[in-house]
Amino acid sequence: MNYKLPTMDDRLRVIIIGASGGIGKALVKNLDNSNQVDKIYALSRYPEKSNSNKIITEKLDLSNEDSIQSTSAKLLNTGKFDLCIIATGLLQDKEITPEKNMKSLKISSFNKSFLINTIGPALIAKHFIPLLRNDKKAVFAAISARVGSISDNKIGGWYAYRASKAALNMVIKCLSIEVSRKSKNQIILGLHPGTVDTNLSKPFQKNVPKERLFSSDYSALKLLNVINVATVNESGSLLAWDGSVISF
Ligand SMILES: NC(=O)c1ccc[n+]([C@@H]2O[C@H](COP(=O)([O-])OP(=O)(O)OC[C@H]3O[C@@H](n4cnc5c(N)ncnc54)[C@H](OP(=O)(O)O)[C@@H]3O)[C@@H](O)[C@H]2O)c1
Repeated sequence: MNYKLPTMDDRLRVIIIGASGGIGKALVKNLDNSNQVDKIYALSRYPEKSNSNKIITEKLDLSNEDSIQSTSAKLLNTGKFDLCIIATGLLQDKEITPEKNMKSLKISSFNKSFLINTIGPALIAKHFIPLLRNDKKAVFAAISARVGSISDNKIGGWYAYRASKAALNMVIKCLSIEVSRKSKNQIILGLHPGTVDTNLSKPFQKNVPKERLFSSDYSALKLLNVINVATVNESGSLLAWDGSVISF
């Protein structure tokens, strides 16, 4: 499908960080199919060469500032960017599992969740927001999660993941305020992709009704719609896949 973002430049230069993940891969694929997109820098820990002449793959490990900085330095002289999306994130791995109760809380789970979900994206903002254009609409978006909303939390649990996404939402808000002092065209967004069928959600899909479990393609296209519609008035907000504002 030739996807279009009519509110943005007609020769889009895009950066997707976390291009190996479920949602990240779908964003790269759908942008690659768009005639409007000129170049996509697809960044991940273990990049593989792409067959598309639009896609340039580079290595980036968001747990290491040197890696973030050296990749940003490589992109700096290629020209300004219209869009940068962080599609990385961690809910569980071999070492950490989302906590059902306070008995399960561990320093290591908080450390790792905050490193990947909050600190990494904040340092990416430090090194990648300066790559955005300033003369026309440009968007820096980080995929957060509805479960990071404190006011929306009705069932508890998932302490480290929820807390790290709540902290990410605060980082996004701070960035939007700082950026607005210098630019009328740069928009900073937190995005909630819905519940999406990816490796991250696989172990937790049992109780999700079929119609509420999105494919990564569906979610990616919805998120691109939200980015297209967003204006500086929404900068600093957490927006859901359908464009609704999720209160913090
Ligand atoms: N799926 C859902 O239902 C859902 C719901 C709400 C919010 N989200 C959020 O959506 C975002 C994308 O999640 P997803 O569902 O697409 O998950 P996913 O398929 O597990 O993708 C996660 C991505 O994060 C990357 N990553 C992890 N640690 C990294 C590091 N140190 N450096 C660089 N990249 C790293 C992974 O790269 P590797 O391949 O190198 O591991 C992978 O590309 C996350 O922020 C998640 O919290 C997802």
